[in-house]
Amino acid sequence: MPRQFFVGGNFKMNPASLEQKRSLVKVLNDAEIDSATEVVVAPPSLYLLPLKESLRKEIQVAAQNCYCKVSGAFTGEISPAQLADAGVPYVILGHSERRTLFHETSELVALKTKAALEGHLKVILCVGETLEEREAGKTADVVNSQLRAVVSALKESDWSNIVIAYEPVWAIGTGKVATSAQAQEAHADIRAFLKEAVSPAVSESTRIIYGGSVTAANCKELSTRPDVDGFLVGGASLKPEFIDIINAKK
Ligand code: G3H
Repeated sequence: MPRQFFVGGNFKMNPASLEQKRSLVKVLNDAEIDSATEVVVAPPSLYLLPLKESLRKEIQVAAQNCYCKVSGAFTGEISPAQLADAGVPYVILGHSERRTLFHETSELVALKTKAALEGHLKVILCVGETLEEREAGKTADVVNSQLRAVVSALKESDWSNIVIAYEPVWAIGTGKVATSAQAQEAHADIRAFLKEAVSPAVSESTRIIYGGSVTAANCKELSTRPDVDGFLVGGASLKPEFIDIINAKK
């Protein structure tokens, strides 16, 4: 079965006001969007429910993080159970900003992924190398080790609820997008890893999306690559050009 194209908008800690949030919703609700593409936007947690209420039903919401426990004394955290109970279907885990600024290890990301899946959430699992790691020829090693921690924590059937986002750290928010050949090579390596570490079926069916300075200008070329199944978009998801990215395959 062909993999459904997937476009996520990671708003990060934006927009800065309710007024900007309203205009983003208007852009998304008024646009003509490709019904063949799965579209998910991830606002700050404060806006998850208002956005879910005000967005057209074809656009789903995702949390940008969650904790690995169901409830308890974990100030500042949200649990998978709370997100699922509120009707939030997706969560982003392992984003490089969480890994670097908030010191999340691959082991913690794996625990969170397991907890999120057990809590009936779907996971957008982010992996990617730094520039230094790429220049040292370690891209596949770094990405595989980030994935290996998750593989060890999961059952084969869990993978049907995971979308992998390959996001080279050097491309995030820098304007330096990976070339479509670089993205294809990294995605093909991830698929090869899944084939060996999980199963050929999971390797074939798991969506692997690209993130890092995706714009309306570069999305079409990236989307032509056989192992690029969509995008996770940061900065451009806050602009009207996000619609062009959603429609990259149209
Ligand atoms: O999650 C999204 C990525 O961090 C990409 O961000 O599109 O602003 O480079 P960017």
